[in-house]
Amino acid sequence: MRTIEKYVEKRQYILKNMFPPMICSILKEIPCINRYCGSKNFFITGDVYTGKTIKASLIAEQILIQNYLHSPNSMSFCFFNWSDIYLLSLDEQKKTIENCIKTDILFIDDLAVSGISDWLYNSLYQIINNRLLYEKITIITSNSDLEKLEKIFQDSRICSRIERHYELLKLTKSYRK
Ligand SMILES: Nc1ncnc2c1ncn2[C@@H]1O[C@H](COP(=O)(O)OP(=O)(O)OP(=O)(O)O)[C@@H](O)[C@H]1O
Ligand SMILES: [Mg+2]
Repeated sequence: MRTIEKYVEKRQYILKNMFPPMICSILKEIPCINRYCGSKNFFITGDVYTGKTIKASLIAEQILIQNYLHSPNSMSFCFFNWSDIYLLSLDEQKKTIENCIKTDILFIDDLAVSGISDWLYNSLYQIINNRLLYEKITIITSNSDLEKLEKIFQDSRICSRIERHYELLKLTKSYRK
């Protein structure tokens, strides 16, 4: 039988496969939370260093823990830092976008969009829209709130979907010392 104790035994290995090493080493120090998150999609905003990435990672982990405990089928997970899209060739961008549409749980970190091309904007729309249509879990963090994003996009298709179908969290506590 799958139990939370068994998950905790394997936690380090699971986190290592989910997140980049720096995030992983912070998460390892935070006790694992066995709690159902309710709402499926999350949009997490706040100033720099308010813990958005860590909060989103913990939510993703909670969703995976619930799945581990209650379902025989494992879920695929993709962590993607949106700004990395600009480092990829066109072919790699297409593959990444396809993967972002397909994966069971998608975590887009740092959705910063200034200077986004029409092609990338439409790709982002395809990701958000397809994932809603197929009821796949999406977690997004951004330094910009929806109002600011909508102004940058000069289009409301993405933001109105997020507003309607995501739980919106605004973090305010700064971890800066
Ligand atoms: N829940 C937490 N418990 C303990 N420390 C935390 C927690 N959340 C964040 N921190 C600390 O705060 C730092 C910043 O967190 P994080 O990277 O999640 O912020 P962010 O809002 O995503 O920052 P940015 O806007 O630069 O992307 C982490 O490196 C970690 O040291
Ligand atoms: Mg971050």
